[in-house]
Amino acid sequence: MAGSGTAHLRDTDDVLVRVEHMVVEFPISGGTVHAVSDVSFDLVEGETLGIVGESGCGKSTTARAAIQLPKPTSGSVWFEGKDITKLSKEEMRKIRPRFQMIFQDPISSLNPRRTVNEIISEGLRVWGENDSWTLDTIDDLMESVGIDPRYGERKPHQFSGGQCQRISIARALVLDPKVIICDEPVSALDVSVQAQILNLLEDMKERYGVSLMFISHDLSVVKNISDRVMVMYMGKTCEVAGSDQLFEAPTHHYTRALMAAIPGADVAVDDQMLEGELPSAINPPAGCRFNSRCPAATDECRSVEPQLREVGEGHFVACHHPVLA
Ligand SMILES: Nc1ncnc2c1ncn2[C@@H]1O[C@H](COP(=O)(O)OP(=O)(O)OP(=O)(O)O)[C@@H](O)[C@H]1O
Ligand code: SF4
Ligand SMILES: [Mg+2]
Repeated sequence: MAGSGTAHLRDTDDVLVRVEHMVVEFPISGGTVHAVSDVSFDLVEGETLGIVGESGCGKSTTARAAIQLPKPTSGSVWFEGKDITKLSKEEMRKIRPRFQMIFQDPISSLNPRRTVNEIISEGLRVWGENDSWTLDTIDDLMESVGIDPRYGERKPHQFSGGQCQRISIARALVLDPKVIICDEPVSALDVSVQAQILNLLEDMKERYGVSLMFISHDLSVVKNISDRVMVMYMGKTCEVAGSDQLFEAPTHHYTRALMAAIPGADVAVDDQMLEGELPSAINPPAGCRFNSRCPAATDECRSVEPQLREVGEGHFVACHHPVLA
């Protein structure tokens, strides 16, 4: 089925999150949605993992299920030495602040009735103060994300989309997280503002020592911010590599098609544009899930699921016939 396997997982001491064989299925009337089908990935301290693929390929579900929202159907998720899929609700509650999320639509993700001060400090009121931030240091946090603390009594609608995303970032940081899931955090913003928010995320990552899972349907957005990129197709992992490696030498036919679709992209792909409809997630194709749209598909692709294998140092692909340099 694009691919499975754990060959790409690392065994270093700085692995913060390790997801193995994660499956997420949603029962619906008339079948089961196979949203995430045997996906494995890891995130090391201070790293940004880009997760990229078309709408519906399971990016959000993959990241959210890693933090048990929803709990995966099967598979394990290791964080700080524990398989958090096995934690009780109370144990999971204790580590919940370590994982924060930032969403696509910054304005609607902020409570319109609360002031910015209340929005940013709410986490401290719910979860308690921590080593990094207290109710007395909210102004410092606002300053560090570029919001003038004098505007703390204003409500979200009085800010632009970019400013609201800065407020969302502050709201996430106040809980002293280890991991922030950024789910299409710049997709709703003007291009000029996108770069500012991406820069802010990078600064905050460095300054506060967080790791990011950065989700986007747009490869050109993940390119610069990500250390490593995982390309997904229909609930499967196609390719995992360092960002530079992936852009210099994309080997999976789906990755190459995504790259060919970037306007004016200076990437090493030929003319393989993405064609054909996305198959149904209720009844995904056998073998490699990309076989119905792949120009290189063979009978083997239609029956045997490719496993991730290393094609360069730290560069893994799940394809029977990858494009190798
Ligand atoms: N609660 C749910 N119930 C049923 N199906 C769901 C549910 N959540 C997600 N799905 C389905 O799971 C699949 C993966 O969805 P997901 O939202 O993770 O994709 P995505 O890559 O984040 O897409 P997008 O780029 O549009 O945000 C899709 O087929 C989606 O319709
Ligand atoms: S060559 Fe086969 S395995 Fe590789 S992407 Fe195409 S269909 Fe999938
Ligand atoms: Mg999504």
